[in-house]
Amino acid sequence: MTIPILKKHANSLPLKLIFTIMNHKPVEGFSKLTKQGKIDWIVSQYLENDAHYKKILNQYWNDDAALQKLHDEFSENTVSNFYMPYGIAPNFLINNKLLALPMAIEESSVVAAASKAAKFWLDKGGFKTTIINTEKLGHTHFILNVEPHKLLNFFNFNLKQKLFAATEDITKNMRNRGGGILDIKLIDKTAELPNYFQLKASFDTKDSMGANFINSCLEQFGKTLKEEVANAEQFSPEEKNSLQIVMNILSNYTPDCIVRAEVSCKIEDLKDDSGISNEEFAWKFKQAVIIAEIEPYRATTHNKGIMNGIDAVVIATGNDFRATESCAHAYASRSGKYSSLTHCTTDNGIFRFWIDLPISVGVVGGLTNLHPLVKFSLALLGKPSAQELMSILAVSGLAQNFGALRSLVTTGIQKGHMKMHLLNILNQLGATEDEKQYFVNYYKDKTVSHHEVIAEFEKLKNK
Ligand code: MEV
Repeated sequence: MTIPILKKHANSLPLKLIFTIMNHKPVEGFSKLTKQGKIDWIVSQYLENDAHYKKILNQYWNDDAALQKLHDEFSENTVSNFYMPYGIAPNFLINNKLLALPMAIEESSVVAAASKAAKFWLDKGGFKTTIINTEKLGHTHFILNVEPHKLLNFFNFNLKQKLFAATEDITKNMRNRGGGILDIKLIDKTAELPNYFQLKASFDTKDSMGANFINSCLEQFGKTLKEEVANAEQFSPEEKNSLQIVMNILSNYTPDCIVRAEVSCKIEDLKDDSGISNEEFAWKFKQAVIIAEIEPYRATTHNKGIMNGIDAVVIATGNDFRATESCAHAYASRSGKYSSLTHCTTDNGIFRFWIDLPISVGVVGGLTNLHPLVKFSLALLGKPSAQELMSILAVSGLAQNFGALRSLVTTGIQKGHMKMHLLNILNQLGATEDEKQYFVNYYKDKTVSHHEVIAEFEKLKNK
């Protein structure tokens, strides 16, 4: 069979691409195939029809057809489920409430490190949090070839109230819940791009993350702006014709939706079991934070460790980890240089360690009422408000960072990490349960290394 794309572009396609296309035919209407049809197609096209691959996909289906259908319908073209370990980090004392945090994460040692950090702070007053603000933002980005002051007058005396009025229906429910549009501003960006302006709106979305609400308001802004400019007497026909609504979209950067989480104690109470003195521990820990504040290479890894704790709870509670990631990293770069999200002081004999985290999450809407494990997570956390969830997430990030830095400045990261990774290595080697138990005992007081485990495993097998 000749493939249409090949025929059409035969002369212009590089050989390598032609070869690839010949081996893997493009598909029409993939989304309309049944689940089994999709599997048959991908296994025949990419996996040499190997039944083993079909079995893998089938193995991960849920026997409960209704539950499977629910999962299938979260996304598109689903052919299986992708499991992630779901763990619990207990003993988190947050604002005097004792919580067990649900964490969905595949990386060994993250849940263990969180649990260890939680326990460390349990008898030192635990974690305290403060919601600093809760404003979310969105923009209508548009091009209009007019004098900025003329547009500003039009915005102040005509457009602004029309934008509020035009979104009254959309905002009604949110206003009843105490939220809504807080303000709308006209922003002149013409110095950066000719004729570029923004309607910049701030929102309070209460317990929802608010993405759909914000985007609906913004799309209405785009329509109202178009209508109002078309009817405005102060603009010439050429000016009116120059209007282009480029896009209406929320910003995942929420520098005015911030929560602070902190821990503190006397340096003399910073007992660490690694053998270094409390003073040396406090000093080294603070140096590690300062290094992350001034050195972007280190800050990236430092913040990655923080996000280990945050993303795991974000996923377990059905929130959008890509949004929390991009927001955190944008905030970490706000000075123009990428820096640490956490900070530390050791003044007057007091060790203080904190994070200021911009984060927009919801406890209603999205997956929160649909995914059974998300519902479980929220119930486990005592059905938190969005602000309480912000606090829990900031604590999880701070605890994770405390755990990582504590290891880094004392024993090194590999000791704890490899201990947790041991089972992965043994599973790769096909170890039995008895062999796993033998190795867990064997490595109780030794540092695990990949090549050593393999060698020891061979020895055990040959015995
Ligand atoms: C590993 O996932 C995270 C760490 O590298 C974080 C850090 O170095 O601070 C341990």
